[in-house]
Amino acid sequence: MSQILLIGRDGQVGQELQKTLAPLGNVVSVGRPQLDLTAPEQIQRLIEETAPALIVNAAAYTAVDKAESEPALAHAVNAAAPEQMAKSAQALGSALIHISTDYVFDGSKSSPYLETDPTQPLGIYGESKRAGEVAIQQVQAAYPDLQYAILRTAWVYGAGGKGNFAKTMLRVGASRPELRVVADQIGTPTSAAEIAWAIAALAQQFLQPGAAQPSGIYHFTNSGAASWYDFAVAIIEEARALGWPLAVEQITPITTAEYPTPTQRPAYSVLSNQKIQPILPAPPPQWRQSLRQVIAELHRNLSSN
Ligand SMILES: NC(=O)c1ccc[n+]([C@@H]2O[C@H](COP(=O)([O-])OP(=O)(O)OC[C@H]3O[C@@H](n4cnc5c(N)ncnc54)[C@H](OP(=O)(O)O)[C@@H]3O)[C@@H](O)[C@H]2O)c1
Repeated sequence: MSQILLIGRDGQVGQELQKTLAPLGNVVSVGRPQLDLTAPEQIQRLIEETAPALIVNAAAYTAVDKAESEPALAHAVNAAAPEQMAKSAQALGSALIHISTDYVFDGSKSSPYLETDPTQPLGIYGESKRAGEVAIQQVQAAYPDLQYAILRTAWVYGAGGKGNFAKTMLRVGASRPELRVVADQIGTPTSAAEIAWAIAALAQQFLQPGAAQPSGIYHFTNSGAASWYDFAVAIIEEARALGWPLAVEQITPITTAEYPTPTQRPAYSVLSNQKIQPILPAPPPQWRQSLRQVIAELHRNLSSN
């Protein structure tokens, strides 16, 4: 069986990847306690010791606003660490799957972003993630035998991991009668489980002898588009349909200007799934369909706690 190294096993996507990668090989999964991503020598040593056929990196510095005050840390985790993974992968002949973000774009488009569209991050987090993409591409430019895929995704939420927009809406909605949510940023809510499903499809291609090797950047999200307001309304509707105890009576759409944050976010960051489509076993589900599944899982967890 192929050896697969999963880095970032405890994050939202990492937890789901533990499930979807398991059938594809012998998965060695590490989290922060086993690997500090700010220490490139630890990354190199772990990859050499594991000698994986495939490395999947689901770890990242994901605190979008906090990154503005911790740029060096964001760059270390989101750019220097994946660069080291690419170098070590190349040296050992391993393939590398890395995850990036819609926040590499400035949001000035009004139709879904393609992989070839110019990037223009609006904040430190997006800049650091873009720097990670470029670093991997530069290793490949120097060593064309490096096999890699970068999956850009967006608006990630799931039942696992520490926190996300859906969990926040449910927590706040449990005690407050009104939620005020930004309605002028458009993207695609994407469940961590679907991302793990898409990454498993890429992984399978890398691991299957004779299969066409994935290459370069791929966009992947659930299907459809929504504002944060639309997403909040759907979260509350789905939870309420399951009998979730909620105090919220009204969800009010507000503008980004009414909810200032340290980092500017793209007004529009829908990603086109066109390039990755032929690699997937089925079209990506509509975001609302995946949301229903995640809320059901959260509800089961709520009931069993
Ligand atoms: N979340 C989103 O909305 C979103 C949107 C677009 C793209 N993405 C991308 O999708 C990928 C997965 O995101 P996610 O939401 O699953 O992230 P997440 O839940 O925040 O998980 C990230 C993981 O990385 C770990 N990590 C951070 N710094 C580390 C360090 N110095 N050493 C070792 N581990 C470290 C974290 O550990 P701790 O928990 O201990 O900090 C956490 O387990 C990332 O590449 C992210 O940039 C996310």
